[in-house]
Amino acid sequence: MADPKACFFDVNQYSHSDGYVKDCIESGYAGRVGYYVDSCTSFISKMYKADCVMVANGTLALELALRTVDVRCGDVVIVPNVSFVATVNAVLSVGAIPAFMANRMDDVFPDIESLHYLLSRHKPKAIIVANLYGCPTPELGKIRAICDNLGIALIEDCAQSFGSFYEDKTPVGCYGDISTFSFFSNKTIACGQGGALVFKNPLLYTKALSISNHGRSKNDFDSYGTNYSFNNISAALLWGNLENMYTILDYRNNIYDEYLFQIRRMNVKVIPFKIEHNFAKWMLPLKLTEANPNKVVSRMTEMGFACRLGMQFLPLLPHIKDTRCTYKGERPDHILLPIHTGLKKSDIIEITNRLKMEIQ
Ligand SMILES: Cc1ncc(COP(=O)(O)O)c(C=O)c1O
Repeated sequence: MADPKACFFDVNQYSHSDGYVKDCIESGYAGRVGYYVDSCTSFISKMYKADCVMVANGTLALELALRTVDVRCGDVVIVPNVSFVATVNAVLSVGAIPAFMANRMDDVFPDIESLHYLLSRHKPKAIIVANLYGCPTPELGKIRAICDNLGIALIEDCAQSFGSFYEDKTPVGCYGDISTFSFFSNKTIACGQGGALVFKNPLLYTKALSISNHGRSKNDFDSYGTNYSFNNISAALLWGNLENMYTILDYRNNIYDEYLFQIRRMNVKVIPFKIEHNFAKWMLPLKLTEANPNKVVSRMTEMGFACRLGMQFLPLLPHIKDTRCTYKGERPDHILLPIHTGLKKSDIIEITNRLKMEIQ
């Protein structure tokens, strides 16, 4: 097994999936159809009490969501200015124009005032929010109400928050007309490459299902579609992890808590600052109060620790030009520490000791 201190990827998380993968190979069910695709679909569907479509990855899940709510070339889609680049690339892939909400001071989440500002200037077809680091976007209820009033579709990008719950046990992703997920190798629950969508409205589900399968309806291939399919081999890996989901999340919790204990006297702040729900731990986002995050990340990486810079500041990426964005805000300087489920207490002590040296 790879050294968990050096590894961001974590796909066989205490599961029986090796046997399931073998089963796919032996049965010949390796493509879009199969027992494991069905099992993952119905697991997520039950968890969200909503229809679910599985797809090849979280980026295509977002793209499919946008197509499903009829976002077309030239439409404006409001997005957060801090997220992983896929959030905005999906918008560009359907030919739409991103307009960026500003992030809150020292925070990765949008400032709702900037949403009002954008709405006073544009008529967006959709709003995407990204529930980063397992945490739901604050004020989602208000954003939902705005969308209802103005007839705008709300898409929740939950790529980093599968397994997070609100205190009333509702899973994070319950506000969006469509919520999307990623099961990429570094995610809370992972399988290599995989994605999913859940739907508030059964009509949107039927439409997405058809688009994701070449435009197939009950009768024939009678509308636009393409191939967004998940596959049974990845699903076998995912199913093994879904069966053990709560054990995996417990491991992550314990690792996170150990980190919090070890960094308690260090010059760092954990973001998001305010946590009001039971969130799935997805890496440890740390704001360094004094040290330069770029330098710290490269030093930590040189030393063999899987450490990264936090999410991108999207409006300033080179390929995003000529958009109607507000450039307010900046990349919140933060770094991410590894949260591989194989990490032991001694590993965490080693990582945080090194970090302490690097930020002094
Ligand atoms: C916020 C966010 N959105 C979308 C994605 C895209 O998911 P995938 O890598 O499965 O395409 C990611 C993946 O890291 C992500 O973090």
